[in-house]
Amino acid sequence: MEGAPQKNGNDKILLAYSGGLDTSVAIHWLKEKHGCEVVTVTVDVGQSDDLKDAMRRAKSIGASRAWVIDAKKEFVEDYVLPALKANSLYEGNYPLGTAIARPLMVKKLVEMAKRLDAKTIAHGCTGKGNDQVRFEVSIMALAPEMDILAPTRDWKMTREEEIDYAKQFNIPIPVSVDKPYSIDESIWGRAIECGVLEDAWVEPPEDIFEWTKGIDKSPDTPEYVEIGFVQGKPVSLNGTQMTLLDLIEKVNEIAGNHGVGRIDHIENRLVGIKSREVYEAPAAIVLIKAHQDLESLVMAKDLLHYKKMVEQHYADLVYNGLWFSPLKEALDAFIEKTQEFVTGTVKLKLFKGSAVIVGRESPYSLYSTSLSTYAKGDEFDHSAAKGFIYVWGLPLKVGSIVKNGANGSGVANGSAVNEESVSTSK
Ligand code: ARG
Repeated sequence: MEGAPQKNGNDKILLAYSGGLDTSVAIHWLKEKHGCEVVTVTVDVGQSDDLKDAMRRAKSIGASRAWVIDAKKEFVEDYVLPALKANSLYEGNYPLGTAIARPLMVKKLVEMAKRLDAKTIAHGCTGKGNDQVRFEVSIMALAPEMDILAPTRDWKMTREEEIDYAKQFNIPIPVSVDKPYSIDESIWGRAIECGVLEDAWVEPPEDIFEWTKGIDKSPDTPEYVEIGFVQGKPVSLNGTQMTLLDLIEKVNEIAGNHGVGRIDHIENRLVGIKSREVYEAPAAIVLIKAHQDLESLVMAKDLLHYKKMVEQHYADLVYNGLWFSPLKEALDAFIEKTQEFVTGTVKLKLFKGSAVIVGRESPYSLYSTSLSTYAKGDEFDHSAAKGFIYVWGLPLKVGSIVKNGANGSGVANGSAVNEESVSTSK
């Protein structure tokens, strides 16, 4: 592979800055290697870090300017909500808190690059992860003219060497060798990697978790929450209307307090590696569960089943960096149409790490007690079942007769079964 192109001194490099180890080292490294101005952009998608502090840090390391863009509202409305409507869980587990934040970061970076007349965007992703793909493919979709730099991929330092580099140049960093985790956050979840977690057998140590309580520390009494939806969008919590942003923040707090939303799984990265991933995503887990349940109540069976296939495809393509693709856009249109009647309320019980659905209601409920009841008031026509089963089972009956003969013992295909070969274990 060719190395990164050398920039000329008049150019400006816009660096997507998280405030973590990789991007902090990158500010210094890019300036040294390319001899040009480095401007950092930090996009606030609800990470709990002190981003003002990150901004100051960027400047102290050598960024000529450091921007923080509050994109929380846009993130929840335009990225989290579509993912929620699609019940997005990659490989059935991961709610995509990192994967959906990257396209928005790129959108903001591209806007800023155009404003500042910069022709190069840099990111701090390594060569082994998915985020490099998401960043670069999104840049290619939104600003194909832009040059892309990936210093962390080019410099070939180990994490320990990076820490040494940071020490050598007095770069302030939030990691130490005994807590060497790589952490990524958005309001939709917190991802924790590296350190002891790389051993898939080792239980995640309690101190990696910040949004969720351990079972032993969570309350001894359950808590009920009611999530109100209008056309697939959560609009109220326990009867109080609120913005999606406030609602997600509150549910993160309430469910996290009960230890809900911890995920530990082996994940298949796009780049071919299996990795052990640990997440905390209390609101994502609660809201996706509630949303799925409401859909079960209001959606026709064939639509519901078809949507589940679309959902898996959707999660895969978002995970794989194709947020700004024509297919993703078309699937969004399909999913939006399915949300027409996803209005109602779901009740959940949060207790010791679990979020269990205990009730649901909707003006569009297709659930009918008079059809489902086994008690008085049953309106289901039992006699109709007989004819239905006759028709439903007919192809199987015909098939069986052809194979085994009308009385079940003869064989139409020639491999006759004689009495001796039918052994009985007496
Ligand atoms: N495995 C997840 C993903 O690919 C999370 C990545 C988190 N990134 C990080 N730097 N810790 O979306």
